[in-house]
Amino acid sequence: MKIDGKTRTCGLIGNPVEHTLSPVIHNNLAQMFETNLVYVPFLVQEGGLAEAVKGAYQLNVLGMNVTVPYKSDVIPYLKEIDALAEKIGAVNTLVRCEDGYKGYNTDMSGLFRAMQTEGIQIKDENVLLLGAGGAARAVAYLCASAGAKKIIICNRTVEKAQEIVREMKLQIEGTDIVAMALADVRTLAEESFLAVQCTSVGLYPNVEDVVLADGEIYDRIHTGVDLIYRPYETQFMKLVKAHGGKTMNGLKMLLYQGIIAYELWNQCDVTEEQAEPLLQKMKEEMGIYE
Ligand code: ATR
Repeated sequence: MKIDGKTRTCGLIGNPVEHTLSPVIHNNLAQMFETNLVYVPFLVQEGGLAEAVKGAYQLNVLGMNVTVPYKSDVIPYLKEIDALAEKIGAVNTLVRCEDGYKGYNTDMSGLFRAMQTEGIQIKDENVLLLGAGGAARAVAYLCASAGAKKIIICNRTVEKAQEIVREMKLQIEGTDIVAMALADVRTLAEESFLAVQCTSVGLYPNVEDVVLADGEIYDRIHTGVDLIYRPYETQFMKLVKAHGGKTMNGLKMLLYQGIIAYELWNQCDVTEEQAEPLLQKMKEEMGIYE
C-alpha cells in the first residue's frame, strides 16, 4: 500500500474497536479498486464523540463507520440523516457532505443485500423476529420497509416487544406487526416463518445457548438468519438446519454494511463476485477455514 499526500482516510469510531473486521473489508476494497484510501480504527472515549466528529471533518476524513456505543448518540452531531436511518434511530455510516457528515444505516441495507445474495426474501414473508433490543428494532423496520406480510416480535420481556410495535404502528402502514412473549411462540397459527435471531444469546463463548428452546416451532422455520457471526454456526442455526431449514449467519451482513459504506464514500459499485474474496479474507481473519 502506497501512502502519500493524496491518501484519503476513513475509519471506525467506537469503544472498543480493537476486534473490528472493518479494516479488512475497506483496505482490501481500496486495493481491489486501486483507490488511494486507508481505513483505520479510532477509539473514542466516553464524552468525546462530538469533538471526534468535528475533528474528523476538520482533518478531511472522507467517511466513518460508527459502532457500539455511539450508533444513536452520534445523530445530534450530523448535518443530514437518511430517512431509514432516522426511522431506525441508529447510524453506522457517516458520509462527508458540505459542512459535516450525512448519516446512514448500512447495517440494515447490508443485511438486506446479504440476504438477497443468499436468495432469502423478506417480501410477503411471515417474519419471526427474536429479540427486542436495538438490533431487533432495526430489523423490524427493515422487514416492514421490504414488504413483509407479518412481523411477529418475540421477546423474553414482552413489554419491550410491545413498545416497538406501538412505535412502529405510528409510522408504518400495510404490515401486520404483533408482539409476543418468547414462551408463547408455540401458539402462533402461521405454518411457515422466516426467523431472524437478533439477541445476543448464543454469542461466543456461550455457544451452547439458544434463545428459542421450543423444538416444535423449528419445524415451521423454513429459513433462520442469525445476526451473530462468532461462532460461525450458532446453536440456533444448528437447530434450524436439523429441522430442514436454510441458514445464514451475520458475517455477510457485516461484509455488506461495509461494502455499502465504501460505495457511498467512493461512489462506486461492488459486485457479488468482488465481494466473495473479501468474505474469505474475513473468515481467515477469524480463523475459519472450511
Ligand atoms: P442490542 O441493542 O444489541 O440488540 P440489547 O438491547 O441488549 O442488545 O438487547 C438484547 C436482546 O437479547 C433483548 O431482546 C434481550 O431480551 P430482554 O429484553 O428480555 O432482556 C435478549 N436476551 C438477552 N439475553 C437473553 C436470554 N438469556 N434469554 C432471552 N433473551 C435474551
